[in-house]
Amino acid sequence: MSMVDPDPGPPPVGGRAAQHIVTIERFLADSQPPGSTGELSRLLDDIALAGKLIASRTRRAGLTELLGKAGAVNVQGEEQNLLDVYADDVMTALLSGHGRVAAIVSEEQSEPVVVDPTAPYVVVHDPLDGSSNIDSNVSIGTIFGVYRREDTSGAPSEADWLRPGRDLVAAGYVLYGTSTMLVYSAGFGVHAFTLDPEVGEFLLTWSDLRFPDEPAYYSLNLASAPQWEAGMGRFVDWLNRPDTPELSQRYIGSAVADFHRNLLHGGVFGYPGEVDRPEGKLRLLYEGAPLAYLASQAGGRGSDGTQDLLEIRPTDPHQRTPVFVGDRFLIARLEECLSEE
Ligand code: AHG
Ligand code: MN
Ligand code: MN
Repeated sequence: MSMVDPDPGPPPVGGRAAQHIVTIERFLADSQPPGSTGELSRLLDDIALAGKLIASRTRRAGLTELLGKAGAVNVQGEEQNLLDVYADDVMTALLSGHGRVAAIVSEEQSEPVVVDPTAPYVVVHDPLDGSSNIDSNVSIGTIFGVYRREDTSGAPSEADWLRPGRDLVAAGYVLYGTSTMLVYSAGFGVHAFTLDPEVGEFLLTWSDLRFPDEPAYYSLNLASAPQWEAGMGRFVDWLNRPDTPELSQRYIGSAVADFHRNLLHGGVFGYPGEVDRPEGKLRLLYEGAPLAYLASQAGGRGSDGTQDLLEIRPTDPHQRTPVFVGDRFLIARLEECLSEE
């Protein structure tokens, strides 16, 4: 993980300091594999612009009409927030009309939205993750994944989006926190960009981010522990033993924010299954798989407690699954605890 010079100061035109300033557009253009068309780069540029627009509204949500409920309930049975709807609308608008995206699967849309039937890509996304935190000014984010269609001869179908995470060609998130960051991977490492609001550009902050060797956090909602299966209790007991890594417990109710903190400082996030909800709460297609893809690109792993999340082929766009993502050794230990009788 290389931290780009945090404050190169006012760069002389074309001077050495200017070499430190890399926009996401420049990074994407320079990182394209030989022979690529550039279409995926431009799709990621579109998502970066969506992130800027959502960040702008998120920053002012308290000052405009964007706080509060939209008065509708989504397919998840969750009351939609105005910002959920705004973020979903922005993503749909910016992913349409360029001939790149054939269909969009969104947490906020009951059915996949067909955009351009002949286009090469499908985007899955959670337009606003952590919605319960919107009005308390806690970090929230947008999570996305991109699949390349294997057959573009016919209309987009579920064969294009009901795919395991190992088929992803890119995934990432935009995090609306103390700063706005875009973190993505297109299969060649995980790269992080911070939005400079004065110039309206995402500037490269870290290239090839990897989980630190030593974890610092575990993110579990311990208030739900009575609902968990016995193996989870064995894992938490193991975490708290004096001879295991000394971790702090942090859980803020936005998976994307918990994931980001654990990526930078080391750790594991989990949303386990529960007695009355063995499939858990998080959705495989646009929360679990994209985060597991990023984790795998950063030296970590994603699991449902028994198998790699990237191996699970969804049968429904909104299928839920237990999600554990982060430090690969903590996840291996968790799987052992869950497998013990
Ligand atoms: P979303 O806001 O997109 O529905 O996702 C919220 C998810 C996830 O971000 C978070 O970790 C989890 O819900 C929190 O759920 P609990 O409040 O049940 O802990
Ligand atoms: Mn979510
Ligand atoms: Mn959401």
